[in-house]
Amino acid sequence: MTSTPQTDVVGSPQHLAAEDPTWWRQAAVYQIYPRSFADANGDGIGDLQGIISRVPYLSGLGIDAVWLSPFYPSALADGGYDVADYRDVDPRIGTLEEFDQMVAALHAEGIKVVVDIVPNHSSDDHVWFRQALAAGPGSPERERYIFRDGAGDDGSEPPTDWTSIFGGPAWTRVTEPDGTPGQWYLHLFAPEQPDFNWANPEVRADFLKTLRFWSDRGVDGFRIDVAHALTKDLTDPLPSEAELDAIPRGEGQHPIWDRDEVHEIYAEWRKVFDSYDPPRTAVAEAWVERHRRPRYASAEGLGQAFEFDLLTQEFDAAAFKEVVVDSLTLAAESGSSSTWVLSNHDVVRHATRYGLPPLADQVGSTEQDQKQGAAWVLAGGPEDQLDREQGERRARAATLFELALPGSAYLYQGEELGLHEVGDIADDARQDPTFFRNPGVDKGRDGCRVPLPWARTGSSFGFGPGPAHLPQPQWFAEYSVEAQDGQQDSTLELYRSALRLRRQLQTAETLEWVDTGRDDVLAFRRPGGWVTVTNFGTAETPLPAGEVLLASAPLRDGQLPGEATAWIRQ
Ligand code: GLC
Ligand code: CA
Repeated sequence: MTSTPQTDVVGSPQHLAAEDPTWWRQAAVYQIYPRSFADANGDGIGDLQGIISRVPYLSGLGIDAVWLSPFYPSALADGGYDVADYRDVDPRIGTLEEFDQMVAALHAEGIKVVVDIVPNHSSDDHVWFRQALAAGPGSPERERYIFRDGAGDDGSEPPTDWTSIFGGPAWTRVTEPDGTPGQWYLHLFAPEQPDFNWANPEVRADFLKTLRFWSDRGVDGFRIDVAHALTKDLTDPLPSEAELDAIPRGEGQHPIWDRDEVHEIYAEWRKVFDSYDPPRTAVAEAWVERHRRPRYASAEGLGQAFEFDLLTQEFDAAAFKEVVVDSLTLAAESGSSSTWVLSNHDVVRHATRYGLPPLADQVGSTEQDQKQGAAWVLAGGPEDQLDREQGERRARAATLFELALPGSAYLYQGEELGLHEVGDIADDARQDPTFFRNPGVDKGRDGCRVPLPWARTGSSFGFGPGPAHLPQPQWFAEYSVEAQDGQQDSTLELYRSALRLRRQLQTAETLEWVDTGRDDVLAFRRPGGWVTVTNFGTAETPLPAGEVLLASAPLRDGQLPGEATAWIRQ
């Protein structure tokens, strides 16, 4: 393999001439869920050639980087977040050579590449887990994971009563090599996702190798999955679930979540990142208490951490403002830039969330927030409860608000089409383990992972020449790229204009709030005279003087209509 693909790039891409080590601070990062983005060979599964074929689209969209959800070999027990080999490409998705081609093609357009690292757990198909099963209790192979003897006289009870995040017990019993029922292993997620033992130096060394492997291939950064769970204190006696729940999570001493010592791992990773020029970047997916986030985002650690609080809010001026104020404070504390997220592969798409009846009772703790919109999905996605137009109107306004904020914006594939969640996927077509493990309680996340519509027609609306691995509804036709391309009022063209303008207007990472005299209208000014006004209410509002550069909805007699955002230059 060529270890430095960047130097192999054909042509003389300008961004390589002057590598800016701070490119990530205010980048617009577009998340690709590879299996559902574009399918080149028609087998119904998105692939790297599909991504390569859409590089012109990505370039035209005006994003700065792509983040690829896992494309590694996987049995797909959790959409690829069950990794069987961290240093290869799933043969259904492509090859390492195609990966290099993809990186080169993206780099040639000045687009950075971020890949997903899943360090908390592997797939049960990973060679290490197979070896652990074969080697039996007490072996060094088992020490790479978290095995315990069962409770009860014959060990037939799980070591604790812990529930996994995806529902069902967090321990699964294995069959020993001699055929007898044996030990139990811990999995915070699905049974096919055994948790690694991060106290084991071999595990640590292997991930350093993985980070170097992709960095050497020209990858610019990493998104770190469940970054707050790696280190665990599992000294006996283990607490019960009730005892575990009673331990505060925000003090760095919880046996499982957000332990202080996890940062020792990231300090080691930082050395690897900084050994490259420019340094590789990372962003933590860490669902931790707010005051705990800056450490993940610090320059000694991963460098950036996702801010999920915006995506758990309803479309509301006070709620949005509070999140922005808080997040900018936290970012300043960590020395990092803030991150903004409205949609990703784990949550109901924001166009849909904003089109549902008020869900005030579902906004609260983190866990509940994640469920926002879940009741609608559970009910089978009833059309009469979804106001599509309202959802899209608010989503466009929220997006222009987000893209004007200081810091980086993480966009999820399809949101640029104003795409809604697919709420009515038949049970037998579903793939997400959260559906299978929570019968009648959770329908899972498949609805935001349905393959993208590129064309009005075709067997999979242009996703590929064949079918789509999740069923696409008929209404995808009118949301397709083909239907929106060149249409001035389309959401796609709004994203294109916004991302282009954002690059021109981009400025220091600060904002100043502007008094609007109305509780439901927010306005802020960025250095250089870039003013953003968002009307969360329904009554029109006058705009400050200046040139209107962009608006999420047509102005009415110079006034900003309800549920709309405008960018103004002063
Ligand atoms: C993260 C991913 C999610 C996955 C989980 C377990 O939260 O975003 O998709 O299911 O980790 O890996
Ligand atoms: Ca394919």
